[in-house]
Amino acid sequence: MTTTLITGANKGLGFETARRLVDAGHTVYLGSRDPERGRTAAERLGARSLALDVTDDESVAAAAKTVEAGGGLDVLVNNAGAEGRTPEGNVIPAAEVTAGMMRGLFETNVFGIVRVTNAFLPLLRRSAAPVVVNLSSGLASLERMATPGTPAHAYPGIAYPASKTAVNMITVQYAKQLPAMRINAVDPGYTATDLNHNTGSLTVEQGAEVIVRMARIGADGPSGGYFDAEGPLPW
Ligand SMILES: NC(=O)c1ccc[n+]([C@@H]2O[C@H](COP(=O)([O-])OP(=O)(O)OC[C@H]3O[C@@H](n4cnc5c(N)ncnc54)[C@H](OP(=O)(O)O)[C@@H]3O)[C@@H](O)[C@H]2O)c1
Repeated sequence: MTTTLITGANKGLGFETARRLVDAGHTVYLGSRDPERGRTAAERLGARSLALDVTDDESVAAAAKTVEAGGGLDVLVNNAGAEGRTPEGNVIPAAEVTAGMMRGLFETNVFGIVRVTNAFLPLLRRSAAPVVVNLSSGLASLERMATPGTPAHAYPGIAYPASKTAVNMITVQYAKQLPAMRINAVDPGYTATDLNHNTGSLTVEQGAEVIVRMARIGADGPSGGYFDAEGPLPW
C-alpha cells in the first residue's frame, strides 16, 4: 500500500493528481491550507484531508505528525504554488515587480518545498520506495527562456520563472544527497487552472499526466531529472 501526500490539492492539478492516485490505489493525503476546502475536496475523492500551509512551520510540523501517526509516507508531491499575477490576471513584467512580491512568491514556491520536504524526510526515509515530485514549470528552463522564438521566451515576468528555476536546483541537490529516493522536477505544461486565470491550453487531465507518472515511478526510475509528458527537458 502506497501512501502519498499532495500539497495544495484542493483544486487544479493537485486535485486531479489526487483523483488519479486514489484510483491507482494510493492512500492519499490531500493537503490544503484551508481546512474546509480540503475536507470538501477529500470527501469527493475518498482521500484523507490534511490541513497544510506550506508557508507555515507549525502547520507543516502538525501535518507531519498526523501523517506519521497515520502510518507514514511513501510519496510526496510538492504541488502547492502560485504565479503572482495581478488581480486582473496579468503577468507582472520585470520592471514592475517588487522585491516584496517576489519574496511572497518564493515563500510558497521555493521555501515551501524545502520546509515541507525536510519535515517529511524522516517519514520518507522509512519508506521502502520513497518518491518526491516537485512541481516545476517550462518557464524554469534557462535554455528555453533564453531562446528567441519559444513560447517561454515571450514570458515577461521574472518572479515565477526564477522561483521555478530554484525548484529545479533544489531538486538536483536533494536528489544527489538522497540517492535512495527518486526525486524529480516536472512541468505539467500550460494548463487551464486558477493559477493562470484559466488561460492554459491543456486540461488538468493532460497536465497531471507527468505528475502522476513521476509519483508512480519505480525504485529503478530516474532521479534528479526535469521532465514533461514528452520526456527530459533542457535545464
Ligand atoms: N497551470 C499551469 O499552467 C502550470 C504550469 C506549470 C507549473 N504549474 C505548477 O503546478 C502547481 C499547481 O498549480 P495549478 O495550476 O494547479 O494552480 P491552482 O489551481 O491555482 O492550485 C494551486 C494550489 O496551491 C495551493 N496553495 C497556494 N499557496 C499555498 C500555501 N501557502 N500552502 C498550501 N497550499 C497553497 C492553492 O490553495 P488555495 O486554493 O487555498 O489557493 C491551490 O490548492 C503549481 O506549483 C504551479 O506552479 C502549473
